[in-house]
Amino acid sequence: MSVKNNIPALPISKQLTIGLFGFGVVGKGLYEVLQSTPALQASIKKVCIKNAGKKRSIGEEYFTTNADEILDDEEINVVVELIDDADAAYSIVKDALQKGKAVVSANKKMIAAHFEELLQLQFEHETAFLYEGSCCASIPIIRNLEEYYDNDLLSSVKGIVNGSTNFILTKIFEEGLSFKDALLQAQQLGFAESNPALDIEGHDAANKLSILLAHGFGTITKPTDILYSGITAIKESDAAIAKQKNLRIKLVATAQKINETQLAAFVLPQFVATDDELANVNNEFNGLITESSFADKHFFKGKGAGAYPTAAAVLSDIAALRYHYKYEYKKYLQQSGINLTNDFYLKVFVSAADINTIEKNEFEWIEEAHNEYNNSWVVGTIHAEKLFNNTWWKENGVSLILTEKPIVDNVDYKKIGKQSLALAGVV
Ligand code: HSE
Repeated sequence: MSVKNNIPALPISKQLTIGLFGFGVVGKGLYEVLQSTPALQASIKKVCIKNAGKKRSIGEEYFTTNADEILDDEEINVVVELIDDADAAYSIVKDALQKGKAVVSANKKMIAAHFEELLQLQFEHETAFLYEGSCCASIPIIRNLEEYYDNDLLSSVKGIVNGSTNFILTKIFEEGLSFKDALLQAQQLGFAESNPALDIEGHDAANKLSILLAHGFGTITKPTDILYSGITAIKESDAAIAKQKNLRIKLVATAQKINETQLAAFVLPQFVATDDELANVNNEFNGLITESSFADKHFFKGKGAGAYPTAAAVLSDIAALRYHYKYEYKKYLQQSGINLTNDFYLKVFVSAADINTIEKNEFEWIEEAHNEYNNSWVVGTIHAEKLFNNTWWKENGVSLILTEKPIVDNVDYKKIGKQSLALAGVV
């Protein structure tokens, strides 16, 4: 007799009838992926698009420009939202949740901006809203943070969460491409946002980090409350220094508990040692390292951008809906009381053509300084709040890169005083 005869049947799975919003890179990818997974019992009934005139690769009968044809169709029990416009996406998702439909989205900007309202809607209408594709595309990080790590045990999550910037940095540093050409390639390959400033200025990574904070630590925060920058200021001379010291430069998102109730979170370029797992996360790949008390360290790596990797995550959410899966937001609901803080110190490398554009008095401690025509830099310790409240380090060609272990233990730098500036010969 087979073992199967002795185990209880699986819970009844739902037949999923999907209304899809958007038929761009990811939408089309999802359609193709669904065609090759018939066992999923999920089919697309209608696709809502903005531009009716465009030539499409599937039958015209699928398409509509009227959102209500999906939202008012009672047979459609799942709305998959994959459009570009975050405001329009919010109104679609809100309407669908209010109508009791399950929703899958990959729109990190929209989710990060409306996290609390979306949470409220899910609870009020007792329906599921899943968005694994919004963070690190193919890496199943949200469900892992949600299900596997207990809040008390997780101490940090850090990694590369934007595929385009990682692709650009790899192409510039490993293959000698110009920034412009590398960005163009990232756009052609469908990795970049339609407004690539969202990628290269770090907004996209900050949006993703704010979603990860909610699932990892139960901390709900607006992306604008996170200290972040992108990769636009990184110069050839910074790359030369990285090479000399056998380091790489990556855009790294970090969330790290600094005590039981406070969490440091930031997205900044960072020097990464070659033996760090993140050093070998290249091109459009993303990589995340979690640290927790008992499991110690986990490293996740996978494609972080592109049609199929994102469609794979959306597909995984659709599959989870068949078994009535919902995020429970346990860490948030348990009111773990972990709040974001900027009360910590960072060890940074700051370079500029003219040393006078580096606000040296903002530092607590400077341990290295180099002053040369067109190539000056300092390495020192600065309070995170001072970076959060000021913009000098993002202007006038100033480039700020975190050192390999950026969070400095809470030493009382005030006691050491600013004499270090004089010692370094820069004031
Ligand atoms: N533009 C995003 C990236 C797409 O490059 O990571 C995936 O979220």
